[in-house]
Amino acid sequence: MSVQTATSRDEIPEEISAINLVDTRTYLEHDMDAYWRRLRADHPLYWHPPVDGTPGFWVVSRYADVMALYRDNQRLTSEKGNVLVTLLAGGDSAAGQMLAVTDGRRHKDLRNVMLKAFSPRALSKVAELVRVNARRMIADAVRRGEGDFASEVASVIPLTTVGGLLGVPVKDHSYLLGLTKSSLSSDEADQAPEEAFLARNEILLYFSDLVAERRADPQDDVISTLTASEIDGVPLTDQDIVFNCYSLILGGDETSRLTMIDSLYTLSREPEQWKRLKEGSVTLESATEEALRWATPAMNFGRTALVDIEMAGGTIKAGDVVTLWNTSANRDESVFDDPYVLDLGRSPNKHITFGYGPHFCLGAYLARVEVKEMLDAMRTFSDGIELTGEPRRIHSNLMAGMSTLPVRFRPDEAGLATADD
Ligand code: HEM
Repeated sequence: MSVQTATSRDEIPEEISAINLVDTRTYLEHDMDAYWRRLRADHPLYWHPPVDGTPGFWVVSRYADVMALYRDNQRLTSEKGNVLVTLLAGGDSAAGQMLAVTDGRRHKDLRNVMLKAFSPRALSKVAELVRVNARRMIADAVRRGEGDFASEVASVIPLTTVGGLLGVPVKDHSYLLGLTKSSLSSDEADQAPEEAFLARNEILLYFSDLVAERRADPQDDVISTLTASEIDGVPLTDQDIVFNCYSLILGGDETSRLTMIDSLYTLSREPEQWKRLKEGSVTLESATEEALRWATPAMNFGRTALVDIEMAGGTIKAGDVVTLWNTSANRDESVFDDPYVLDLGRSPNKHITFGYGPHFCLGAYLARVEVKEMLDAMRTFSDGIELTGEPRRIHSNLMAGMSTLPVRFRPDEAGLATADD
């Protein structure tokens, strides 16, 4: 384990060292923008000390460094976990089987198999499903006038999307949503870790049953494609498939949901940007990219160093845990002009919301479709959005965002008249 070499703890000011990035309450209680500005400026490679019995780890905050480390799957591995909770526990039980925590040749082969399952035909079918769902759900929400956008719309679209891709029967969507919601984050500060563990196990069991059903009776969906796939002539095992279904549902649900909620919240507070979207003076594509940069729902991912790595004036030692902070990289003032200003027409906008390099998000296309269709439906059917209460923020050291969003919509009657077209 490392002796901190880049910046000695003695040189670290109290306002930095007092922040505990492992504690989920930190993100709700502190001014994290100020923290990240300070780290980018003065401590781009920062050794986060061990706290409450967890080991210490490196914190990388500048865009260029985060990109360089995401790209580097030679000197860094994902096989000891890619999120804080598993990295600090010393490993991930799905290593070498689940795409996100597999490296090398196996990762490449598995990624190719999964990409085949994400064929343009499969994706265009799901994209159409997203469009129809988003239009219907948002038109209904606007007609109702008031409600919780998080539970009524943003919770339903992503699960329907990934569920459609995987071939999860619609009747099981709400059951799975309940489980995914408590797997990675919590609506409550004091959720017991066992609850998240049990929820994750239940998802695995659910997919074991579904894989068995698809083996017996293949359909036109990703699970059936995976059951028919081989790597070097060896078919994928049930466990391989189950782990990867699990990763698609977890990777695809919460991230997209949080982005949609954040986008609507932000638009309700930025009337000038809403006007640009509504009037069509910015493209839906650039608005989508900025909504993704702004939300950055996955705050960080992590790796373990395989060898000593010199960077940013310091040395990461072999065996050290390194965390890469998308949340900070997406506000790096050396890359983005006025990074703390929402600009739906921002161009270029090379945000790092989906990561970078060999593990670049497999669902980026679908996530973009979801956000774009949501923004399109919103600007077509609504004439304005107001908050009617305080949203509730989630508790997590991985994800950022809100679990409730009480809003009132002003209807756009002309737009609503086209809802059933
Ligand atoms: C990987 C973010 C939506 C499936 C990743 C990574 C990030 C990310 C940052 C890289 C992880 C790493 O380097 O360790 C997001 C965000 C999303 C989103 C912000 C929505 C706004 C989706 C969707 C799916 C998905 C919709 C599935 C349909 C995956 C998978 C990986 C991944 C399977 C692992 C890829 C690999 O290791 O090769 N995602 N994701 N994601 N994502 Fe997403």
